[in-house]
Amino acid sequence: MKNILVTGAAGFIGSAFARYMVGKYPDYNIIVYDKLTYAGNLDNLLPISDEENYRFERGDIADRAVLQQALETHQIDTIVNFAAESHVDRSILQADAFIHTDVVGVFILLDEAKKHGIGRFLHVSTDEVYGDIEDGHFSVETDTFAPNSPYAASKAGGEMMVRAYHITHGMDTVITRGSNTFGPYQYPEKLLPFFITEAIEDKPLPVYGDGLQVRDWLFVEDHVTGIDTALHHGKSGEAYNIAGEDNRTNIEVTRALLGHLGKPDSLIKHVPDREGHDRRYAMDCTKLRGLGWQRAHNFESGVKLTVDWYRDNAWWWQKIKTGEYLEFYKRQYAARLASADNE
Ligand code: NAD
Ligand code: DAU
Repeated sequence: MKNILVTGAAGFIGSAFARYMVGKYPDYNIIVYDKLTYAGNLDNLLPISDEENYRFERGDIADRAVLQQALETHQIDTIVNFAAESHVDRSILQADAFIHTDVVGVFILLDEAKKHGIGRFLHVSTDEVYGDIEDGHFSVETDTFAPNSPYAASKAGGEMMVRAYHITHGMDTVITRGSNTFGPYQYPEKLLPFFITEAIEDKPLPVYGDGLQVRDWLFVEDHVTGIDTALHHGKSGEAYNIAGEDNRTNIEVTRALLGHLGKPDSLIKHVPDREGHDRRYAMDCTKLRGLGWQRAHNFESGVKLTVDWYRDNAWWWQKIKTGEYLEFYKRQYAARLASADNE
């Protein structure tokens, strides 16, 4: 392992992984390959932009010609794939881009990796492939897939292709399935950064339905160390859950954010629910712990770091919340907020 192509690493988790890997492994070359969609942001990579073992290439994982060039120019021997359309609400509005990247893109990346004799191929996936989880159960890696949103279905499709390339072509693949991740540099469409930045500006927080949906919350630095562990120690052909093992309802999370910010609960508005909204996600990550991983943060410490970061880095999110972002906001929230109920 020497020259690692990290796809989708101008986004939230991928950029955290790139920043971590560049510092932790000075002998590796980290080549970020990213299409720079609305969610890709070179500001996320500024802290490493002058490092000798970091390079950036702009490209689509579904574009064979550009991908081939990057693989050959940098003599890539390892791939870590973060590239994805990642927002459930956008997949409900329009799913084309999800199929393009999360299914077709993954196939093309695998196919070019095979042709170029790439060694390890780590594919970053999600707990959403397991679907809605009944109370008391914690998903394990052998559980059946039951994806419910177009996003979750596209991620499940990508995973199936990774499995097929391992079994059919003998590729050295590892899959990680992370839970709801939060932290600095997360695009402010996802629950935590959206609500934190809205609350800072005293705007309403649209909680879907009763807000009693449960998610497992994982601080981004722990997700990154989980992927690093699976990359170096994971068994070929296997999948590994990465979870904070900290399950909370959305309304609890929202109140915790407001508490840290010193803002009133009256900002909370209950709006019509997300279509097909999964009620509960929960995972067991005993298998990854068996490789020596453990999380360094809990929900409280992670939320404090996150809230402080958004408060101190308005320069980062204020320039995102313009243009296309405002169009999306209007489409997603205008009618919902118009029929909102107060707490
Ligand atoms: P993100 O939306 O912040 O970033 C996605 C990145 O992929 C962006 O930089 C974007 O420009 C890039 N990209 C999109 N399409 C591309 C394409 N066709 N070719 C090349 N680059 C492309 O996403 P994120 O939250 O950082 O998620 C990263 C990965 O982790 C995704 O695969 C996602 O499914 C998975 N995941 C996310 C979470 C979470 O809570 N955010 C949890 C578990 C798993
Ligand atoms: O579980 C892992 C997944 O977590 C990742 O695979 C996805 O890429 C990531 O986006 C995330 O998906 P969710 O749909 O769970 O995340 P989101 O931040 O969009 O929503 C978290 C919860 O909060 C969910 O139950 C919906 C709710 N929510 C979200 C938004 C944006 C609201 O109530 N109001 C909102 O405005």
